[in-house]
Amino acid sequence: MSDKTTKFANLRQGHPAKECIQGASEILGIASQNILTNPDIEYSLFQYGFSRGPPEFTEELAKFLTSEYGDKVSSEDLLVTCGASQGLHLLATSLFTKDNPVFVEELSYYHGTQLFKQLNMKVIPVPLDKDGLVVTELDRLLTKERLQASHVVTDDSRPYWSLAYLIPTFHNPTGICYSADRCKELIAVARKHKILLVCDDVYNLLHYTDSQAPPQRLLAYDHVSDTDFCGSVVSNCTFTKIFGPGLRLGWIETSPPVMKLILNCFVLRSGGCVNQYTARIMAEALRLGLETANMRRLRTLLKRRMEHLHEALKKFLPENCEVYTYSKGGYFVWVMLPENLDAEVLRTNVLNGSDVDFLEGIRCSSDEKCRNAFRLSISVCQEDQIWPGVQRLCEAIKNMTK
Ligand SMILES: Cc1ncc(COP(=O)(O)O)c(C=O)c1O
Repeated sequence: MSDKTTKFANLRQGHPAKECIQGASEILGIASQNILTNPDIEYSLFQYGFSRGPPEFTEELAKFLTSEYGDKVSSEDLLVTCGASQGLHLLATSLFTKDNPVFVEELSYYHGTQLFKQLNMKVIPVPLDKDGLVVTELDRLLTKERLQASHVVTDDSRPYWSLAYLIPTFHNPTGICYSADRCKELIAVARKHKILLVCDDVYNLLHYTDSQAPPQRLLAYDHVSDTDFCGSVVSNCTFTKIFGPGLRLGWIETSPPVMKLILNCFVLRSGGCVNQYTARIMAEALRLGLETANMRRLRTLLKRRMEHLHEALKKFLPENCEVYTYSKGGYFVWVMLPENLDAEVLRTNVLNGSDVDFLEGIRCSSDEKCRNAFRLSISVCQEDQIWPGVQRLCEAIKNMTK
């Protein structure tokens, strides 16, 4: 490795580092050996399968999630996907058309927002604060937009005239978690306006506090026993962050009315489960407890990195800058510069590709706002590069303000 490579602190990308993926082959090797040498499994493994996925997988996953979330997850509420990106695409294309407007958090995951733009859906940003989406503003925008979208018809197969795309837990890019009150208010507004809340719950299981469970996912607030329950939330999840992106395996968790709508889509009706083979192997890894152990190892590794990042920012960040939240999970920390500083200028003119990198705030805004902010990621950077990387970055910020 060259000196430049070893010195380089990549705080920009959200890819897992080599150490995060280490051991994946061994886990899948053991699980595959058990499955592929069992002649009784061969037929069901390579035959068309249930659209929601192999029962062995949905049952093992339900047990795993119930234990990790500290909240009951039913296997009937789970459906296999090829990861959160495919899950989001499936939801956007099977339940909505280009006539349906989409509400997104201002700030959000760049590729998520791009999907809706590529599908020619109208994207409406809604402000975010430290407790989550500003629900009063969403309520106001929904009322306004419904009048403009009065030509949009809904029917039994497409009952929602709109959706809100959210990342409520360890948000990308800000690292915030929605408060319990905000979650309850959101559910009430979604029911009132008959929209679907689609949550990318991809970081939930990477929590770094001493508490046994992560903050409750939004879906847990959508109680089937409520008199006005209609099924307003989808939790779109993935093994990308807790195993490895190359697996291309994820799942959707949702309530029976929404599940019924999703199962009606062409891909699932025609082809059955979208990733049956991989799901069946992962079921065995879950059954053997191998993935639970892997995830715990990952949490310990990432927790240490997050602590290094927090400590380095507390030590080196100039006083005229602000850490938006000291994230307690996930990959990201959001940093705000003084109003007049541009993170793109800092990146290209001051740092000039050297030694340290971050994601400019403008990349996370659907409105090209937040020029004076940037996202730091702990996922890909070498642990011992975080401290010197933040130091160099903060020196560059100071030089810019001189
Ligand atoms: C919010 C969010 N959604 C989706 C993804 C992509 O997930 P997957 O690899 O499962 O498609 C990411 C990855 O960075 C993400 O941050």
